[in-house]
Amino acid sequence: MRLKHRNTFGLEAVAEFAYDITAAEQLPTLLKSLAEKKVPWRVLGGGSNVLLPAQLSGATLLMNILGQEIIPSGDSDADGDGEDKNKENTLLAVGAGVNWHALVAWTLEHDLPGLENLALIPGTVGAAPIQNIGAYGVEVGQYIDSIKAFDTVHHAFVTLSQTACQFGYRDSLFKQHPHRFIVTQVIFKIPQQWQARTHYAELATQFSDSHSQPTAQQICDAVCSIRTKKLPDPQIIGNAGSFFQNPIVTQAQYASLLSQYPNLVSYPDKLGARKLAAGWLIDQCGFKGLRIGAVGVYEKQALVLVNYGGASAVDILNLAKAIQEKVRQQYGVQLAIEPNIF
Ligand code: EPU
Repeated sequence: MRLKHRNTFGLEAVAEFAYDITAAEQLPTLLKSLAEKKVPWRVLGGGSNVLLPAQLSGATLLMNILGQEIIPSGDSDADGDGEDKNKENTLLAVGAGVNWHALVAWTLEHDLPGLENLALIPGTVGAAPIQNIGAYGVEVGQYIDSIKAFDTVHHAFVTLSQTACQFGYRDSLFKQHPHRFIVTQVIFKIPQQWQARTHYAELATQFSDSHSQPTAQQICDAVCSIRTKKLPDPQIIGNAGSFFQNPIVTQAQYASLLSQYPNLVSYPDKLGARKLAAGWLIDQCGFKGLRIGAVGVYEKQALVLVNYGGASAVDILNLAKAIQEKVRQQYGVQLAIEPNIF
C-alpha cells in the first residue's frame, strides 16, 4: 500500500502490509498473529510527525479508531481512582484516529473551550500525547485525564493516568518506550471554568488592542491565522512542522552564549535551565530558505524542513545533519530531531 498521502512530508513510502484499525478489539488477535509469524509492525496515525523510508517491511497499522463522546457525570471515574472528575471538568472520550483539529473544532462547537491554542496542529488524537503536542503556551498533556492503550509487552489493555503518562516538553511515557503502547482512546478533561491563555507573545499582540477578554473561538481563529502565515500547509509543501526540538541548556551555558550573542532568543524553563529557540539558531547559521534539490528549510520558519516534491527520508536527514553540525560548531548546542524516524 502506498503511504504518500498518509504522511505530511509527502514521502513516497510503500507498506508491505497495511491493516485498517477501526476498533481496539482488533489489536490482541492481530498482534498475536504478527508475533507468531515474527512480522515487524508499527502504528501510523496521521503521519504528521514521522519520516518514512521508501519501503516499510512488515505490518503498518493504520490507526483509524473514530468516535468522540462526552462521558456523563457519574461515569467519570475513567481511571478507577474513586474520584468523580465531572465536578470540575467535562470528560470526553475520543478515538485515537480522530483528526486533531476536527476535535478542537468539535469541542468549541459543543461549548467545551480549552483546546483552542492547539488549533490546526496536524495529526490525530492518538498521536497528540506521544510527543505531547504544544503551541502558544499550552500542552495537550494538561488536558488529558487518562489514556486507554494496548500494552504490547503484557498483551493487555491498560488505562494510564495523566501522571503515569509522564508528560514533558515534547515528551511522554509513550515516547520513552516506543513500540510498547498502542494508544486507542484518549480521555480529555476540559475544565468547566475556562480562561483565555494569550500570554504567548505572538498571540498577545493579536489581542493587544481589545479591552475585553477574547472568546475561545477568537483565540482559535487567531492561532489558525498565525499558523497559516508561518507554517507551510502540508497539502501544498510537504513538512512535519518543527523538525527540531528547542534545545534546553544550563543557565551557565545560556549566560555564556548570551554574552557572545546578545540577540539570542530563549524562554524560561525549569530552575537552572533555559530553552533556546532552535529556529533562531538555525536562521542565524544562514539556513533559512536554503534549498538543496528536493529538500529545503522553509523560507518563513527555519525550524521547518520541507519536501518540494520527490525527496526521500535520506535527503531530509542529510539536510538535518548539516544543520545540526553547523549549529553545534557555532553555538555548542546539539539539536534533537523531533519527528519519529521509522
Ligand atoms: N526565529 C528566527 N528565525 C526563524 C524562526 C524563528 O529568528 O526562522 C526566532 C524568532 O525570534 C522567534 C523564535 O525564534 O521568536 C521562536 O520561533 P517560533 O515562535 O516560530 O517557534 P517556537 O516558539 O520555537 C514552538 C513549537 C511549535 C509551536 C510554536 C508556537 C517547538 C519545537 N516548536 O515553536 O510547534 O507551534 O512554538 O507555540 O517547540 C511543532 O511542534 O511542529 C510546532 C510547530
